[in-house]
Amino acid sequence: MCGIVGYVGSQESAGILVDGLRKLEYRGYDSAGVAVHDGKQLQVVRAVGKLKNLASVLQESPLKGTTGLGHTRWATHGRPSEENAHPHVAGGVAVVHNGIIENHLELKAELASGGIEFSSDTDTEIVAHLIHRALKDSERLLDAVRVALRQIRGAYALAVLSESEPGQLVVARNASPLVLGVGDGESLCASDIPALLEHTRDVIFLEDGELAQLSADGIKIETLEGESVTREPKRINWSPMQAEKGGFKHFMLKEIFDQPRAVEDTLRGRLDLENGDVVPREMGIDEAAAKQIKRVCLLACGTSYHACLAGRYWMEQLARVPAHAELASEVRYREPVFGPEDLVIAVSQSGETADTLAAMKSAKEAGARVISVVNVLESAIPRAADGTLYTHAGPEIGVASTKCYTAQLVALLMLSVYLGRRRGTLSADKGRDVLQALVEVPEKIRITLESKDKVFEVARRYQHVQHMLFLGRGLGFPTALEGALKLKEISYAHAEGYAAGEMKHGPIALIDEDMPVAVVMPRDSQYEKTLSNLQEVRARDGQVIAIVSAGDPESAKIAEHVLEVPVAPDVVQPLLTVVPLQLLAYYIADLKGTDIDQPRNLAKTVTVE
Ligand code: F6R
Repeated sequence: MCGIVGYVGSQESAGILVDGLRKLEYRGYDSAGVAVHDGKQLQVVRAVGKLKNLASVLQESPLKGTTGLGHTRWATHGRPSEENAHPHVAGGVAVVHNGIIENHLELKAELASGGIEFSSDTDTEIVAHLIHRALKDSERLLDAVRVALRQIRGAYALAVLSESEPGQLVVARNASPLVLGVGDGESLCASDIPALLEHTRDVIFLEDGELAQLSADGIKIETLEGESVTREPKRINWSPMQAEKGGFKHFMLKEIFDQPRAVEDTLRGRLDLENGDVVPREMGIDEAAAKQIKRVCLLACGTSYHACLAGRYWMEQLARVPAHAELASEVRYREPVFGPEDLVIAVSQSGETADTLAAMKSAKEAGARVISVVNVLESAIPRAADGTLYTHAGPEIGVASTKCYTAQLVALLMLSVYLGRRRGTLSADKGRDVLQALVEVPEKIRITLESKDKVFEVARRYQHVQHMLFLGRGLGFPTALEGALKLKEISYAHAEGYAAGEMKHGPIALIDEDMPVAVVMPRDSQYEKTLSNLQEVRARDGQVIAIVSAGDPESAKIAEHVLEVPVAPDVVQPLLTVVPLQLLAYYIADLKGTDIDQPRNLAKTVTVE
């Protein structure tokens, strides 16, 4: 998830671009760059690190020119470095890109066989070369971009500036956001509305499969097939602060709603549905090693640990390998026994968590193969691992993790399928069923999010709650723990997650009319047993909030409140059932008025023990 901005008009563009990027820095911040056309040629400046580094280079050596584009990067292909920073240039064509080009390896090989040399590890540079090549046979930059796009598969929002056509930008979109700003004698584009608001409140949302040509005279939109599109601008009335959160009240809510996209991007280019398999490229473990593993150990802290608990089920079920999930802070002081037949998987959003890093290093020293599942590219954990499967959730700003949790679940399920296929424990047909269920998850999360008002009503009922229990079995257990953690982190209410089967062994003593109990009970193989727990809670006057599969007939008769998720195979349930619990925690906290994005005493990256 990167940020794009473009300007064409009569004002000096460099300052406008940097100001726009400042509003988009939440989308990525490992490097930034601008390309400006001074009427004769392109000038490009890039800098590693936060935007202030680029700003200070530009202050010392200002760029002149009234057409330009800029980018703030969240690395997905290639480590954060000046060479990998955007814009990427090929023969006078500068490109900035947000998204992932799925077929970049094939395209790179094809371009390389024609003698083209690359100066970065990015998928974006390939696009610049494709456009440059197409320009030789095209009358307009717009046509050359269209030719290039026909060769590309994947998600993109692109802005292109060519030395040969000063005074215009060409932009395109497929599955990554891009908004166009309609100004007075100027046109703009950006990944998000806040970057435009200083210049105009009239915006056009580019649709998937569309291109646009931006100039000082206005904006022309066409489809990929060449048909012209007429679309009236929309007037934006949000305050700048609201706009940065995309109209959401908090980053956390925005990130909860960003989950369908986070799941899609984490899956993108990694599935081989035909063979019921996962593409081996980034799995960090080859076939021979997958067969040799005798044990899997998943290591993490907090929310990432809850993802590991679900991962453990999948590893055992699909790859038939003994698996356990460990709190990294415990492992590192326990003198654990690791060896060459162990696969250790370190899971972390930030990639910097001190305990997870230390625990994985000690496993590695003991001879285990260590791979990681991480969101932040080139952070400490992937650097110390033998291989990494990155989650493409994009930057998470809210301290309480939401979209990175679901992206971690996706990555661990893919890894389990990958291991199962290599170890011969999962047939192509079964693998295909699991992956097909995963492909359907984003839409099912979208449907779940539509019932936000119902969750809000439940939150209103419990806004003053002091204690709450969360129960779940099997794959519902990690969801129960995660629901409880979300509630305590942001609302400061005391919450406990329990395996439903443990209820009789102690927590049932807590239940009375003042104790709300959230029961995770989708229609899965454990449903009947969890239903009995629900009845036991009701028999003691506990108030039940049941998280169920749509149309569940039993829970509605017994539970006080029913929150539905779409019907789905057991294996992907944790990706759905967690969503109402994230919303419940969010709305309770919001009604209480806590500082949701930065809850007291917490930090997003925990680099100390
Ligand atoms: C909870 C939360 C934390 C983190 C934990 C590990 O919402 O975000 O519990 O999950 O601090 O952090 P990472 O995943 O960065 O290793």
